[in-house]
Amino acid sequence: ARFEAALALAGRPAAASHRRRAEAGPAGGAFRNASDTDPAVPDARSWAAGVRRLAQAGELGRATVTASRVADPAALDDRLATASAGAGGWQALAPERRAAILRAAADAMERRRDELIAVMMSEAGKTLDQGDPEVSEAIDFARYYADRSLDLVSLAGARPVPRAVTLVTPPWNFPVAIPAGGVLAALAAGSAVVLKPAEQAPRCAAVVAEALWEGGVPRDALVLVDLDPDTLGERLVGDPRIDQVILTGAFETAELFHRIRPGLRLLAETSGKNAIVVTPSADLDLAARDVVASAFGHAGQKCSAASLAILVGSVATSERFLGQLVDATRSLAVGEATDASAQVGPLIGPAEGKLLRALTSLEPGERWLVEPRRLDPAGRVWSPGIRTGVEPGSWFHLTECFGPVLGLIAARDLDHALEIQNAVDFGLTAGLHSLDPDEIARWSGAVEAGNVYVDRGITGAIVQRQPFGGWKRSVVGPSAKAGGPSYLYALTGWERVADLE
Ligand code: ALA
Repeated sequence: ARFEAALALAGRPAAASHRRRAEAGPAGGAFRNASDTDPAVPDARSWAAGVRRLAQAGELGRATVTASRVADPAALDDRLATASAGAGGWQALAPERRAAILRAAADAMERRRDELIAVMMSEAGKTLDQGDPEVSEAIDFARYYADRSLDLVSLAGARPVPRAVTLVTPPWNFPVAIPAGGVLAALAAGSAVVLKPAEQAPRCAAVVAEALWEGGVPRDALVLVDLDPDTLGERLVGDPRIDQVILTGAFETAELFHRIRPGLRLLAETSGKNAIVVTPSADLDLAARDVVASAFGHAGQKCSAASLAILVGSVATSERFLGQLVDATRSLAVGEATDASAQVGPLIGPAEGKLLRALTSLEPGERWLVEPRRLDPAGRVWSPGIRTGVEPGSWFHLTECFGPVLGLIAARDLDHALEIQNAVDFGLTAGLHSLDPDEIARWSGAVEAGNVYVDRGITGAIVQRQPFGGWKRSVVGPSAKAGGPSYLYALTGWERVADLE
């Protein structure tokens, strides 16, 4: 029975699917269920097979990437000149017209949903069940920012004035939603955009750009620039025609951007080392499900992922809880993203550095509850692992490893758990599983993270409902959150009304 329960947890039963569909964003990203067996989607199995075929063909976005490639400073200068010239035309459009174009872009992404999922599968190793809600998130961003762009109002004697050109540099791990979100926010704030795709996922960004152009975003208001950051990155970030940068990536990259261009206006969402606290009052079945999903979705390659579970008091030795965790983890199907059954896909590249260390060696006092296994010669496909006995203050406690490894830390009580959770340098997401209102109130008031979740997983923030962003070393620049009401304000310039008179 325990194994069946674990399978149900890991295998995403219909009830969970319905719950997830109910979590489609308020902006209406029309979450379409990716489960092959969901009775609510009669054609789901053949739809999924069609998306996989599209992914296996592997050509999506390639022509656009080739066309957007810049190989030398002169070509880069040319693209920057295009965006700089395009800024005036985009700014001159009435806000209602710009909002209508963003809504049309949302519809175009909806039409191209299958392509967007397929290109994520083939290029970035994203499984169908992760790719589908990611497209919904991109659509939500478009509709949400279109609405918010019409609410931008003057504040404290200053009126919003678009900044000319925004550079958007997204990561590879959310290769559709994050580029789309940054680009759409900047466009909604009236700025032209230069989009520099992640090196590992240029075709994903290209299909996003194609959809936005198809929706009516002018080609000179959204300029795709695929380049080698080692040779041209500094020139791009340092160019004075770039007024601001939206970066999602490592904290060190944000520091590098500031070194290249001191005083650069940068909105960066950076690294995380996130934990879910589970107290003895929790619904332990739900807690096990949410910890596993938050730790191993997209093979743990999310800045929001749970890298630690902090187990309070008796939870640390609860056979029931630990058994659920182990069984749910072991029963996850691991493979290439295009495999029909895959729930955990490959890493973006062979495991190396910190992640390889986390997957292959233990610190003093630790042992494997589930030992990760390398499943391919290249070292990209790994079964997820759980290390237990992680010591507060140890390497694994404090280091972001970005992969399918979860560490368990025992805490004496909730205060001790909070101390452990807040000891990390980062503060992106945090979770608590507890059914005790006093615990929930105490924890919520003291935890140091941007996105704080109670009795829920800690990944998959919903646009508008859970605006996303961190604090401490998880953010650089204004702490406005993506998908929230202050984001467009943070991207807009301000002109004193009195100065105009
Ligand atoms: N916004 C992404 C999430 O919440 C990173 O998982």
